[in-house]
Amino acid sequence: MDGRRVCVLMVLWAMTHLSCPGLGLRALRRTTGGRRAGLTGQDANGVPLRRSKRGWMWNQFFLLEEYTGTDMQYVGKLHSDSDRGDGSVKYVLTGDGAGTLFKIDEKSGDIHATKRLDREEKAYYILHAKAVNRFTNEALEGESEFIIKIHDINDNEPRFTKDPYMARVPEMSDIGTSVIQVTATDADDATYGNSARVVYSILEGQPYFSVDPETGLIKTALGSMDREVKENYQVVIQAKDMAGQMGGLSGTTTVSITLSDVNDNPPRFTKTLYEFRVPESNEVGSAVGVIRAMDADIGQNAEMDYRIIGSDGPGMFDIMTNKSTQDGIIVLRKPLDFERKRQYSLRVQVENVHINPRFYSMGPFRDEATIKIVVEDVDEPPVFEHGSYVMKAKEDAARNTVIGSVSASDPDDKNSLVRYSIDRRTDMDRVFNVHAGNGSVFILRELDREENAWHNISVIATEFNNPRQISRVPVYISVLDVNDNAPTFATNYETFVCENAKANQRIQTISATDPDEPLVGHRFYFSLAQDAAGKANFSVRDNKDNTAWILTRRNSYNSLQKSIYHVPVVISDGEFPMQSSTNTLTIRVCTCDREGNMKLCNAEALTARAGLSTGALVAILLCVIILLVIVVLFAALRRQRKKEPLIISKEDVRDNVVSYNDEGGGEEDTQAFDIGTLRNPEAIEESKQRRDIVPETFYPPVRRPVLPPTRDNNGDVRDFINQRLQDNDSDPTAPPYDSLATYAYEGNGSVAESLSSLESVTTEGDQDYNYLSEWGPRFKKLADMYGGDDSDRDS
Ligand SMILES: *[C@@H]1O[C@H](CO)[C@@H](O)[C@H](O)[C@H]1NC(C)=O
Ligand SMILES: *[C@@H]1O[C@H](CO)[C@@H](O)[C@H](O)[C@H]1NC(C)=O
Ligand SMILES: *[C@@H]1O[C@H](CO)[C@@H](O)[C@H](O)[C@H]1NC(C)=O
Ligand SMILES: *[C@@H]1O[C@H](CO)[C@@H](O)[C@H](O)[C@H]1NC(C)=O
Repeated sequence: MDGRRVCVLMVLWAMTHLSCPGLGLRALRRTTGGRRAGLTGQDANGVPLRRSKRGWMWNQFFLLEEYTGTDMQYVGKLHSDSDRGDGSVKYVLTGDGAGTLFKIDEKSGDIHATKRLDREEKAYYILHAKAVNRFTNEALEGESEFIIKIHDINDNEPRFTKDPYMARVPEMSDIGTSVIQVTATDADDATYGNSARVVYSILEGQPYFSVDPETGLIKTALGSMDREVKENYQVVIQAKDMAGQMGGLSGTTTVSITLSDVNDNPPRFTKTLYEFRVPESNEVGSAVGVIRAMDADIGQNAEMDYRIIGSDGPGMFDIMTNKSTQDGIIVLRKPLDFERKRQYSLRVQVENVHINPRFYSMGPFRDEATIKIVVEDVDEPPVFEHGSYVMKAKEDAARNTVIGSVSASDPDDKNSLVRYSIDRRTDMDRVFNVHAGNGSVFILRELDREENAWHNISVIATEFNNPRQISRVPVYISVLDVNDNAPTFATNYETFVCENAKANQRIQTISATDPDEPLVGHRFYFSLAQDAAGKANFSVRDNKDNTAWILTRRNSYNSLQKSIYHVPVVISDGEFPMQSSTNTLTIRVCTCDREGNMKLCNAEALTARAGLSTGALVAILLCVIILLVIVVLFAALRRQRKKEPLIISKEDVRDNVVSYNDEGGGEEDTQAFDIGTLRNPEAIEESKQRRDIVPETFYPPVRRPVLPPTRDNNGDVRDFINQRLQDNDSDPTAPPYDSLATYAYEGNGSVAESLSSLESVTTEGDQDYNYLSEWGPRFKKLADMYGGDDSDRDS
């Protein structure tokens, strides 16, 4: 039907059927819906309501898509019944595409589409219309919404959702087996006409496949498609709209269909007889040969199992499948021996692992073949009778004693003679030898079980004809024990006896060791040596459990009389031949407290008993020397210090040393050298005022000289010191702390008695002529080192 006419009709129809309950009512509602209550006569405020006129007489327009005419396409006409044709009404259009796609003649209300429209792009447009008074701009009709619908034409061809499609179907599938469903869609309006109604057909791929025209489902159309013949098919499917009728649009797609494999082929050996040649030296587990069966199938349908179904050497061979190549590998399971059997014959079978029962009818799914294995001779090394040998030799066995023999032979047909030798790398000390001809092993040296309980050596057998054919065998030689060691004290015992010991008192428990290893364990016997037994001062009591006690035999021991006793103890073992030794136990005599705890022992015995090694003695000696060196160094330091006045601060010492280092031109050279710098700054001051210094140390004579009573000058010194002490004590100007006063005394025995005047030596003394002040501190230091009394320091 012509679109324009429809629209025009719409308008006409709407104009003449104002009371139509469908359109008219909707139009009414849109414009005056809010006032329907007015029909009752009054509004909520009691104001009488005026029935309003119906305004608009339309609500939908239709338009054909893809209009190809040169003029603008007429859509329809707006008309208000308040339009009296005098041109005072102005129609206004707003909404989707108003002014661009749709234009309205504001006087007549005619709407035109400016462009061709595509329904598949936009199926309808919602617009709004108004009628206003051209002069006053007053709305004559309320704004109203209307729709312009685009009518479909068949302007889209069907499109497949995929191109190409991929599909698989098992080979040998029955006719009608579904493969894949293809789908084409048509953008045209499916609700209107046949523009979107698609029908499928097959263009290529017959007679193998078919397609359902309605659903697009592709099925097999041939019963026995064989993958081994043709694996891939390209099927072309067409979709056509307008229900497939003439004039419809169409689209195509390709469906790539692959036949998947099914196990429809059995494995087949390529030969009926395989032959392999194998040297007899081949190791157990090695591959003897590889056989292969072919299978037209692929993947797991070609997986095979090989098995031996008959053999003239049972257990000799095995067959395995290489999972990646599906080869059959024949593996040696037992050693071959050319001299025993030279040829084997096997019957093998191959079978698919995954069998499809559907194809049983096609024949047996296994195959058989024969394998011939020819053993080749190899020159083999000698073979020892045993894998290893264990021999025993007594440790006192004489040289050249045969302790056993080994035996090897050539396994080959030629049966070459065998020569024996010892692998010297395993017997570096050449303790053993082997008879080259008969394999007897004998001793070359004396054995000592206590040194080496085992000798593990290797014996080599060499073929006489072919020295390259070598084999070796381990020989374990165990050295058997012979009682050739005497027991001795288990340790170095440190024993003492108290001076106040009582008779029969235990002073030591002793035990013994013996490097021999008797089978039944050791049994030691202890006793006092025979010659000492008579006048013995100690006794030995054997406890019969491999220990013994040393007991006193008398009541008291006197270290002054005899400080060390040597007690000879005889220890013997119970073996044959019996071994015994006399061990001397040294016992010191010590003073003890009542509980018997050692208090003091003879020093000589101490070192002897302590068993000081020469190393320890050297260490002690070194310590003593180092101590001596320290003392000497210290003394030297003291002597140096003595050069300065005793009362001096550390800074001064440093200053003076620096000054002294500056060598001048001598005392006469007053220009070059300022003698004043030599002077102690404190010493310069000292003539002016008394100097009281807190003493660092005070050294009173530790040991007062014991002067013979005949000397009276002794009294003079004491008096002098007392006098000075009194002076100081009574001096009111003296500082509150103690001050040091140094007095020198030259000693006695000199005829001159004193080189200096005692009176002249005061605390202010600049010079120190006296040795006592030097001797004093040094003695003091030594006294400190030896733990002297410290009380002096606080005086
Ligand atoms: C199987 O054969 C492949 C290719 O010859 C080889 O690499 C692989 O080692 C074989 N596997 C066995 C278990 O023999
Ligand atoms: C091997 O020969 C040596 C020396 O002739 C002989 O002492 C020994 O008994 C022989 N051994 C054997 C097993 O005959
Ligand atoms: C020698 O062999 C014996 C027995 O196998 C073993 O007990 C021993 O430890 C070995 N000795 C040496 C030194 O290898
Ligand atoms: C036992 O002691 C006495 C005196 O202490 C001493 O003369 C004597 O030699 C000692 N006997 C032995 C065997 O040492």
